[in-house]
Amino acid sequence: MFDADAEFVVTEDVLNYRHAVTPYEPLGAEVKIDAAGNLRAFYPAAESGEQRLLIGSHLDTVPNAGAYDGVLGVVLAIALLEDLKGQRPPFGIEVVGFSEEEGVRFGTPFIGSRALVGRLDDELLKRRDSNGICVRQAIEEFGLKPDEIPDAIVSDDALGFVEFDIEQGPVLEQIGRPLGVVEAIVGQSRLEFTFVGRANHAGTAPMHLRYDAIAAAAEWITSVEREGQRISGLVATVGQVEAKPGTTNVIAGEARLTLDVRHSSDDVRMRTVEALMRKAEEIAERRKLLVRWETIMNQGAVAMNPFLIRQTEEAIRKTGCEPHRMVSGAGHDAMILAEKVPSAMIFLRTPGGISHAPEETVEIEDVAKAIESGLHLLDLLASSHAVQRRT
Ligand code: GLV
Ligand code: MN
Repeated sequence: MFDADAEFVVTEDVLNYRHAVTPYEPLGAEVKIDAAGNLRAFYPAAESGEQRLLIGSHLDTVPNAGAYDGVLGVVLAIALLEDLKGQRPPFGIEVVGFSEEEGVRFGTPFIGSRALVGRLDDELLKRRDSNGICVRQAIEEFGLKPDEIPDAIVSDDALGFVEFDIEQGPVLEQIGRPLGVVEAIVGQSRLEFTFVGRANHAGTAPMHLRYDAIAAAAEWITSVEREGQRISGLVATVGQVEAKPGTTNVIAGEARLTLDVRHSSDDVRMRTVEALMRKAEEIAERRKLLVRWETIMNQGAVAMNPFLIRQTEEAIRKTGCEPHRMVSGAGHDAMILAEKVPSAMIFLRTPGGISHAPEETVEIEDVAKAIESGLHLLDLLASSHAVQRRT
């Protein structure tokens, strides 16, 4: 089933199928890369027809990452196809490895999944990375055609999207359950703030005659942390700080910071972002600096599909595990897909609750349970009246 010792070999075929004339067909699935860089494998239904269930997660990751967030969900979907051993459900299965979920390079997450719901728009294509390369150019340099992005859109009659991922938190481990079912994913806002002061000599400028952008930013960062501690369920993070000119003996003239705010209530999240903007203005005014910001993303909280939640819970019970319903604090492609198709998520227990760090890991037994529950889910969906009415 899941061979941890298997050697993974990247063959010429794999490297070349992007440009191949004949589709690459491992496991009887037709594999291609769409114009947003998503890896997509379509495993056809028993009878001809395009209707499909999508299963997948993301292939990108964060700097200094662990080995499981995202990619485990893609490998797990492939393992499900493998375990079908050639049997074909009454619906097709499309495995999707999303190209860009974390937002590391362009600051904006969900670039891959936004293509599937028709939201990889011109504004997003114009976003630039730290080297000034925009998304459109990056896509072209990868050998893909941005004009074909609309072809990546998933059809309205797709049966649904199921995403497996590690929980990335401590809850399942604390309650001793291997698998969880996500009922909702919290909303998140991402912004970039820039404090602009005046660069000056660190030795000659007296303390009361400085316009220090790093000092202003530091004061604001502690307000961000306090706001997160004050409001129940809120998490607020400054994850990146960049100062210019960035050297020991010069007072910083500019400090650029990222802000990430999340809460299950969109109202609480938006009020917090507003309060932090006002706080930044107040700090800048008192210190006689300027501050500006750019909103990169406001993504509302998203509920998963009630029917798929129930089916997923039943599938997990069939493996002998009791599922735990939970809210995801991490963002996932499922929250984007849910705009267009019924979506669900299964979480795997995360030892130590550590993620987005090299210590991230999973228990092999939990992976086996996740695959087993996925197979039960396919059976349940195949025999469900709700699905049969649509196929
Ligand atoms: C993505 O995984 C996020 O939650 O930031
Ligand atoms: Mn992640």
